[in-house]
Amino acid sequence: YKRITTKSLVDMKSNGEKISMLTAYDFTMAQIVDGAGIDVILVGDSASNVMAGHETTLPITLDQMIYHATSVVRAINRALVVVDLPFGSYQSDPKEALRSAIRIMKESGGHAVKLEGGKEVKESIKRIMHAGIPVMGHLGLTPQSIYKFGTYTVRAKEEQEAEKLKADALMLEKIGCFAIVLEKVPAKLAKEVAASLTIPVIGIGAGNGVDGQVLVVHDMLGMTHEFNPRFLRRYADLHGEMTKAFQNYRDDVKSSAFPSDDEQY
Ligand code: KIV
Ligand code: NA
Repeated sequence: YKRITTKSLVDMKSNGEKISMLTAYDFTMAQIVDGAGIDVILVGDSASNVMAGHETTLPITLDQMIYHATSVVRAINRALVVVDLPFGSYQSDPKEALRSAIRIMKESGGHAVKLEGGKEVKESIKRIMHAGIPVMGHLGLTPQSIYKFGTYTVRAKEEQEAEKLKADALMLEKIGCFAIVLEKVPAKLAKEVAASLTIPVIGIGAGNGVDGQVLVVHDMLGMTHEFNPRFLRRYADLHGEMTKAFQNYRDDVKSSAFPSDDEQY
């Protein structure tokens, strides 16, 4: 296996090869995702929801992100590992952003960082990249701004927000981001943005006209059965499978069917 680099991703785009990306937050999951040949593993701040049970991504801390990222990096042979900068770790000023990014790179061994926003975070992104740390952008529905939006519905449906998004995407490419995540925007807009850039655009709820797709791994495995956005395709029903396994185990314990003679010393 050849290791995926930020350059591989740009090459994939120019060769017309779509990029596959999933989240992971722990060693065991990351080993399976990497072994299956997924190109990019995102240690997303969605860990705040999926792993910690918070309602939003805001509460997760830099220390907690580093813990998740460290566990993921230990499992990886091939994938590029991108780590989210959590809310509050980069918005104050570029120096804070750089300090946070350096901590992630040094303490977790991740390969790149991702942060949300366009021109508001331009100076912070430049500062991080000056230190040699690759940055992935994230535009459209940026969950760290949920209290500004007030809703998790599709972004940039109106002209003004769409124009700002296009300008932000061009700016992110110009200052040197190696890729951009576009979350929950109209497919037509996402396709237009992807066509206007040489760096890959990786979509979630952004249609099929982009350069790759990302999903939250627990969602695509069907573990989170109450989260049902239109963009989510479930590739397994692990909620059902796990529930059956747990019930069978419980029944076997209660009936003394487990352990059998062969399962003891
Ligand atoms: O945190 C996350 O999982 C993400 C993806 C949904 C892009 O940012
Ligand atoms: Na995120």
